[in-house]
Amino acid sequence: MQVTLKIFRYDPEKDKKPHYDAFKMEAEPTDRVLDLLEKAKGYQDGTISFRRSCAHGVCGSDAMRINGMNRLACKTLVQDLGVNKITVEPILGLPILKDLIVDMEPFFDNYRAVTPYFINDEPAPAKERLQSPEDRERFDDTTKCILCGACTTSCPSFWANDQYLGPSAIVNAHRFIFDSRDKGAAERLAVLNDLFGVYRCHTIFNCTLACPREIQITQAIGEVKKAIATGKLD
Ligand code: F3S
Ligand code: FES
Repeated sequence: MQVTLKIFRYDPEKDKKPHYDAFKMEAEPTDRVLDLLEKAKGYQDGTISFRRSCAHGVCGSDAMRINGMNRLACKTLVQDLGVNKITVEPILGLPILKDLIVDMEPFFDNYRAVTPYFINDEPAPAKERLQSPEDRERFDDTTKCILCGACTTSCPSFWANDQYLGPSAIVNAHRFIFDSRDKGAAERLAVLNDLFGVYRCHTIFNCTLACPREIQITQAIGEVKKAIATGKLD
């Protein structure tokens, strides 16, 4: 089939404003949008800029807006879109560095703010810190995050104010807050119990729809809100 790939182009160092370039090409319905981008860059215009690494939905580096929705280019097939005109644009709410590449630093600043790592200063047991399957299940969903940013950059609250920590940071806080072996929950909940923490979430659900790992993000945020309100983790 013939497809037209319309790509957002912008080089802030050279261009006064962004524009779109269209590339016509042959594609299979099972081609991924990432394949089309590689084809356009490899055969038509080597200056097209985008991030990608694993090409298998694991590294999270190729989140972009594809026909208006945040998705991973490596996990989106031409046939998933159901049309032969495909528009790719950078994710919203972060500064554009070039074309589809945004500056992820503000996103990672928010991630770092919730201390997204295991905290437990008690002496380590001889073998391992045991956990029941039920306790492990408690935070299983939020372990799946690949930090692609699709959720945070689909959230209107984040677009309105990038001081909002955003769904991805809260998901990664959830992963440790509800880990029975971790002792840093109080510290993380204090960070999130803030005007720019969980209270900026107005249950809009865009984050849940955008997540390529199908994490129930809005539910996880609700669980963190409840933990703050009740002071309990159950
Ligand atoms: Fe935003 Fe998701 Fe809440 S889209 S407002 S973080 S439910
Ligand atoms: Fe790694 Fe798509 S390139 S998730």
